[in-house]
Amino acid sequence: MQNPGPDPGRYKHMAVIETRDIVKRFGEITAVAGVNLEVESGECFGLLGPNGAGKTSLIKMVTAVSPITAGRAWVAGMDVTRKPREIKAHLGVVPQEENFDPDFSVLKNLLVFARYFDIPSTEARRRALENLQLFELAGRQKARIRELSGGMKRRLLIARALINQPRILVLDEPTVGLDPQTKHLVWQKLNSLKEQGTTLLLTTQNMGEAAVLCDRLAIMNEGRIVALGSPKELVAEYGGKQIIEAKLDSVERDLIRAELKKQGFYWQELGDALYIFQPDGPGLSEPLKEHLGVVCQRVPTMEDVFLRLTGRTLQE
Ligand SMILES: Nc1ncnc2c1ncn2[C@@H]1O[C@H](COP(=O)(O)OP(=O)(O)O)[C@@H](O)[C@H]1O
Ligand SMILES: [Mg+2]
Repeated sequence: MQNPGPDPGRYKHMAVIETRDIVKRFGEITAVAGVNLEVESGECFGLLGPNGAGKTSLIKMVTAVSPITAGRAWVAGMDVTRKPREIKAHLGVVPQEENFDPDFSVLKNLLVFARYFDIPSTEARRRALENLQLFELAGRQKARIRELSGGMKRRLLIARALINQPRILVLDEPTVGLDPQTKHLVWQKLNSLKEQGTTLLLTTQNMGEAAVLCDRLAIMNEGRIVALGSPKELVAEYGGKQIIEAKLDSVERDLIRAELKKQGFYWQELGDALYIFQPDGPGLSEPLKEHLGVVCQRVPTMEDVFLRLTGRTLQE
């Protein structure tokens, strides 16, 4: 018999967002290849991964926007496939692509959106104006969508997602393409929502964002979660004690590789750049150091963790 999964009565004891072996296929393409996720109440959980990792596909299934191919998902204890309407009422969703009505003004877009949640019109107006203020768009309420900059549209997407005062906010690359100032404004607002108890699930390709905002991170690559933990834990576990950056000499390439291997080092190559992950214990031997032309030695970052786990950088 199939396991019926958690019922709403048990919701208080389970994760706010949970998936079990969730899969998304598009024909031959497997976008999400069996992901188990547990987002706890009040935390900020990040999905960090490069383009095509499956972040959006996963988010869309969890928010009942696109059908689940296999596996299951629950939001606030409710099965996503069975209760899509109820789930949408609980959630605020910031999609990766803006989907405003271009013919309506900024304010009208929020008011029309509020109708999906049966929010009385005076209350909807109050919230809309408050949210516009919050995201520094108050002066733009009468503007048409096409008159807004990219940064304004992203802020408006978040303002709109908050119209139903959701306890769970899901954001797909909330700050992509934003200038640094606007990015910081958004980070600040997301942080204060978290302080007020909102659970956040966000996707990002931005390591800084992941480190600033997220209590826990899942690193995604090719439809799978390849590592999970707090930013600190991930760096400690996969970054090692320090990173040695060196140039890989074309003549001695094979020799250097063989020597690194013999001495038990883990390394990654990007073009002629060499990143050696130094674990606790003895460092590089002196002859090897001399051969390597070391550029620098530094503390590991999330970027190194990512490189180690996926063999690629996030920007590729
Ligand atoms: N509607 C779709 N039809 C076909 N393939 C898709 C569709 N959406 C996404 N994909 C593919 O699924 C994979 C994961 O994409 P996506 O979930 O958008 O990743 P991410 O958000 O991490 O960039 C990619 O290979 C992408 O091309
Ligand atoms: Mg995406």
